[in-house]
Amino acid sequence: MNERLVEQVTAELDALREARTYKHFLTLESPQGPVVQMTGRGEVIVLSSNNYLGLAAHPDVVRAGIEGLERYGAGTASVRFICGTFAPHLELERALAELSGTDAALTYVSCWNANEAVIPTLTDAETVILTDELNHASIIDAVRLARPASKVIYPHSDMAALRDGLAAAPRTARKLIVTDGVFSMEGDLAKLPDIVELARKHDAVVIVDDSHGVGVLGETGRGTVEHFGLLGEVDVITGTLGKALGGAAGGYVASSAAVCDLLAQRSRPQLFSNALPPTVACSALAAIEVMLARPDLLAKLHENTRRFRALLAETGYAPLEGEAAIIPIIVGETAEAIALSQRLLDEGVFVTGFGYPVVPEGTARIRVQMSAALEDEHLERAIEAFRRVRRSHRHGAESHE
Ligand SMILES: Cc1ncc(COP(=O)(O)O)c(C=O)c1O
Repeated sequence: MNERLVEQVTAELDALREARTYKHFLTLESPQGPVVQMTGRGEVIVLSSNNYLGLAAHPDVVRAGIEGLERYGAGTASVRFICGTFAPHLELERALAELSGTDAALTYVSCWNANEAVIPTLTDAETVILTDELNHASIIDAVRLARPASKVIYPHSDMAALRDGLAAAPRTARKLIVTDGVFSMEGDLAKLPDIVELARKHDAVVIVDDSHGVGVLGETGRGTVEHFGLLGEVDVITGTLGKALGGAAGGYVASSAAVCDLLAQRSRPQLFSNALPPTVACSALAAIEVMLARPDLLAKLHENTRRFRALLAETGYAPLEGEAAIIPIIVGETAEAIALSQRLLDEGVFVTGFGYPVVPEGTARIRVQMSAALEDEHLERAIEAFRRVRRSHRHGAESHE
């Protein structure tokens, strides 16, 4: 072992601890649900997962995964083009295309990979990429990997800046506009109608990562694109299977048959990395089926979100506005956000604090996330915890005055 490396790495870790931004993994002993059993803490209410529709431990989803494992074994043991594809991969891709309102879809082991597949593959030496400053880290890295001729990082949802960037791009260059559908740290939606209109005007391609929109928005849960009535109008949609659609892992690109075919031929995460495990292909397919058959889950998610937002406001918190199931509460400094999430955990509520560099300096926050799995009883217990934490914080502050 290189001792200098170990010393340097240890110093870096010490700096994180000193800044109180070191992350501890909390161990769960039960499936993801409205509550989990946490090692050393017992039962806690979960307000931090992306299990939006509560399908992570749904009996149909679990059974489909087990059947997939029993029928197909653990996996392809190689890349799809080398070693073959299982039928559930194709079925899942058909279902994802149908869900996204596109001709085709192609799966990856994560949405991180899907973004790193599609953005570089569609970028040539002349391409200009226009990307929202608050896009997810996987998009930021994918743009770096793509090495476009130039990139325009426009201020968050600033349509005038996007328009100017498009107008300044060479007329013949391919122009890719890349945006989150729902911004993961803000919970707000991309201005998709404006983006699509600008793209049409400037002959640009629109790529939407809808990881936090699918299963949350739109009349049937098809996501931000459905929410805005734009199914069939967006060139490329990427998404994850690790949130509303079962919560295991996996991602996809949904687009035209030609784009998906090119990705199968050219994208490096497809050519040099294994397929999704069949357990996941089967469980994600079941999750889509449950979502479409049970519109009440989507309605419950919306009702829980509306209700918890109202309860937070009554309790004196002022979360950021938003239509999705992400409810961020800005607290300021990173250490403060971590301390608040720690106090809530002491009160039996699992909410994560996020600070720099995940969010800009000075805007650290806790991010509450709703799920259809939560019952009124959980929301009431959770808001009591928020109330107690707020009261004790105020008393603490007063006693220092
Ligand atoms: C907007 C967005 N895109 C991509 C990802 C990555 O998804 P995956 O876990 O499937 O790699 C996430 C996950 O946090 C996300 O929020």
